[in-house]
Amino acid sequence: MRNGEATTIQDVGENPWQSECDLFVLADPSGKIIALHSTMAKFPLDVAQDMLSHDLKQGNSTGWWYSGTRLYQVVLQPFYDDQPTNSNLSGTVIVGHGMDRSANELRRISSSQMAFRYGRDIVASTLPAFKEQDFARALQSGSSPEQINVDGQRFFASSVELASGPQPVNFIVLKSYDEALAYLARENQLLAGLGFLAVLTGAVLVFLISDKFTRPLASLDEGVHALEQGDFAYPLETNGTDEVAHVTRAFDRMRRTLKNNESQKQQLEDQLRKAQKMEAIGQLAGGVAHDFNNLLTVIKGHGDLMLDRLRPTDPLHGSAHQIEKAADRAASLTRQLLAFSRMQVLQPKVLDLNSLVAEMCSLLKRLVREDITFTFRAGESLGRVKADPGQIEQVIMNLTVNASDAMPAGGELIVETRNVSVDEAFAKTRLPVVPGEYVRLTVEDTGDGMDDATKARIFEPFFTTKELGKGTGLGLATVYGIVKQSGGWIWVESEPGEGARFEVYLPVVAEPEERLSPERITTAPTRRSEVVLIVEDEEAVRELAGEFMKSAGYTVLTARDGRDALAVAEHSDPPIRVLVTDIVMPHLRGPELAKRLKDLSPDLKIVYMSGYLEYNKADGEFLEEGFFLQKPFSRIALVSKVAEALNHEQLIARP
Ligand SMILES: Nc1ncnc2c1ncn2[C@@H]1O[C@H](COP(=O)(O)OP(=O)(O)OP(=O)(O)O)[C@@H](O)[C@H]1O
Ligand SMILES: [Mg+2]
Repeated sequence: MRNGEATTIQDVGENPWQSECDLFVLADPSGKIIALHSTMAKFPLDVAQDMLSHDLKQGNSTGWWYSGTRLYQVVLQPFYDDQPTNSNLSGTVIVGHGMDRSANELRRISSSQMAFRYGRDIVASTLPAFKEQDFARALQSGSSPEQINVDGQRFFASSVELASGPQPVNFIVLKSYDEALAYLARENQLLAGLGFLAVLTGAVLVFLISDKFTRPLASLDEGVHALEQGDFAYPLETNGTDEVAHVTRAFDRMRRTLKNNESQKQQLEDQLRKAQKMEAIGQLAGGVAHDFNNLLTVIKGHGDLMLDRLRPTDPLHGSAHQIEKAADRAASLTRQLLAFSRMQVLQPKVLDLNSLVAEMCSLLKRLVREDITFTFRAGESLGRVKADPGQIEQVIMNLTVNASDAMPAGGELIVETRNVSVDEAFAKTRLPVVPGEYVRLTVEDTGDGMDDATKARIFEPFFTTKELGKGTGLGLATVYGIVKQSGGWIWVESEPGEGARFEVYLPVVAEPEERLSPERITTAPTRRSEVVLIVEDEEAVRELAGEFMKSAGYTVLTARDGRDALAVAEHSDPPIRVLVTDIVMPHLRGPELAKRLKDLSPDLKIVYMSGYLEYNKADGEFLEEGFFLQKPFSRIALVSKVAEALNHEQLIARP
């Protein structure tokens, strides 16, 4: 029947009710009804013919037919006798399903009321009969189709047109307003319950969010602000595994790194400030010491001359002696200042610190009192260092005397040597020591120790905490200068009441140890007559030196600077044997002058006089080629040095 097959039509024709249809109609090819059967009330043939003609004309395959008492939903199916071309129509089968008046089937599937309207009439509905009439009236009165009053009850109506035409078929669904209200009331209760649950859940969520995120975030935010103000220690909540905790931990790590960098920067700045301060004080002290040296040379020299010329019974002999003693004391102070300013003339040698300290041990033991235990711990396979042995002795002596001064009630003093390899990490704990291989000399005591304020100033010249007349405050300044001039570093650790530990780092050198030269050949001044040229820009010193040399029998020529000296040498006859020259002079420096004169006469002997090295210039040439005389010098020192130079020549000259 569905595809118009003859057999199917035949089956349906034999027992049309098997497919549960209420209306069965057959029409010939012209659309004329030739058979009509209805299981329900009678379906007038003329009415059916009208309906069919209408549907065929419209080309409908489905439609709604109304018998006058009942509404049918119908399906129209044409069939052909020349399948599959389907050009020769045999007829049309129409089957219909009748709506029961009270629309019981629909009531089963919906809680709403329903109605079918055919044209203007209600032809089937789930409403009781009296309400149906009322409903039909309400519809006909043209009241709003959405809201309809039926027997005092309000309905929401919704209509669907099932078929159009002169008699349209509409399907109307009615929903009771009161039922909807009751439903809404029920829904409201449910919604109120849900709302309460939502509020409760919200509160729990708010608590959780606040506990997990908001509070830690606020704390992180405050931590960031605190950091902006320079507070690196603001407490942060770093526990937990969520993202905020991760971020907080990362921030905490970043903060610690920043703090480290900050304190390192601070340390470096402090270090730089300290170094600059020491440098400035050094230059000042060096400048003063330089001028003093010349003055002292004159004072001491003339004192020497007076002592030489005055008889011991003369009342002025004692005064001259006092002048000389005071000048010696002043000279020793200037030497210490020069040492601090790193302007000392050093005579470095490759040394083994162990043998140097071992040789000093008996002296050191005498320096410390009996209530102090002295220990020397010699490091094994100690590396060699290059330094002036006399100066290093000075360092050890000064540190030892300080340590023993710091232990008025006795204690322990340990001097230790050892090889130390300073890496980056270790260097950071010993600022300003830089990484490298060192021999470390440690002088440690169990004395009074120092507070930070004292520690910050100990290397400054004239800084002392000792009572007036007890200390000059030059001990550690000298140590500092010597260590720095030797290319090393000094570091101190001390707390009040905890003793002090001084560490001196001297760079290791690869060269083999040099034998310390035996006592210098000091030749007693004998009367000689060789020609000596004295070059010195300070007139008083020049004249004094000339005086000294003349008193020893030498022929003396003088010049006030290098250029002048070249001119004098050119015209000298007999030739000059010894050149006694200052190092720092205008126009031509001492070493340069010596070189030029030596080119002219290779036998020339050179004696340099100087109180200091020109600042920051390690000028080693003269030490190898000449003799050195420290200013201020005495008469005997100058005459001995010149004689030593001449003797040296004889030693070499002898085969
Ligand atoms: N081992 C130490 N223990 C405690 N304080 C020390 C120690 N060494 C030095 N000091 C402090 O450093 C200051 C300076 O020392 P420094 O050697 O430069 O001068 P001084 O010992 O006071 O005088 P000087 O050495 O010129 O006679 C001392 O006055 C003392 O306060
Ligand atoms: Mg001292």
